[in-house]
Amino acid sequence: MATRWQPRPNAETTELPALPKARVRAAFGRHARHAAQHDVAQRKIAATLFAALDAAIAAAEAPLPQTPWLLDAGCGVGRDLPHLKARFPHHRLLALDAAPALLATLPPELATPIVGDLEQLPFPTQTLALYWSNCAWQWTTPVLVVQEIVRTLAPNGWAAISIVLAGTFPELATAFAELGEPPPLAPLPDEAAWRQAFAGHPWRTLHATHHTIPLFFATPQELLASIRGVGATATPKTTKRFDRTRPRRLAAALERLRGPHGIPLTYQILTILAQRP
Ligand SMILES: C[S@@+](CC[C@H](N)C(=O)[O-])C[C@H]1O[C@@H](n2cnc3c(N)ncnc32)[C@H](O)[C@@H]1O
Repeated sequence: MATRWQPRPNAETTELPALPKARVRAAFGRHARHAAQHDVAQRKIAATLFAALDAAIAAAEAPLPQTPWLLDAGCGVGRDLPHLKARFPHHRLLALDAAPALLATLPPELATPIVGDLEQLPFPTQTLALYWSNCAWQWTTPVLVVQEIVRTLAPNGWAAISIVLAGTFPELATAFAELGEPPPLAPLPDEAAWRQAFAGHPWRTLHATHHTIPLFFATPQELLASIRGVGATATPKTTKRFDRTRPRRLAAALERLRGPHGIPLTYQILTILAQRP
């Protein structure tokens, strides 16, 4: 049974209004049963982030703090938890997500599931040795999530984060332009907004790296399913009426982008490796 989170008073922000959290939660909850089948992009991005974390910890002058807690923030169905456990077998894993339906799929012996919000973590200050978050930050307000890292990491604790950036899925924008529609994607913060949020705090180490990650799909349906896997269906409400021909026209528009490796879909990702002083 997942634990309910208790919100803390929220901080003021002047940034873009975030997508309603209930829509993000619902978009992921709907796909809970199939989340692990359509996450090829997330696994590729997680592998990049794990490699960067391994290198950063190996090169660090200050060891991980003594506190036993590691957090997977926005853990989804927990695909990274076994890899975290393998790397840090003596630590205790906390698995936090906004969608209870996803947490319900976690093996109970692996981690403590917690229903919670990345912008208001239900943990005391300076409790975490590692804050891990893969592809979960894109619907949040940068200053709020970074502030929560700074508050909850113990001194010398590490944060390893991958973020889907504005400019991701240009192919979808092209295909929807053929339909005469904007792509149904939630607006995402850009790289500058994330860098600025991190620059507002002192760090012992801070590495921010931009990765362009192309994926290729055999069919338009597989491509669109993979997008649902990253919650891109958590879009603002549309007033458009349902049009029966739209799926066919969309598939044809995506087909026209096909290259020698399949239908392309490009991610723009920012990875952050940061150690608190
Ligand atoms: C694309 S999935 C990634 C899941 C997992 N990290 C992985 O790599 O497979 C993003 C996850 O972030 C969660 N999420 C999004 N916004 C959140 C928020 N404000 N608080 C907590 N979880 C959130 C979603 O419910 C979803 O499970």
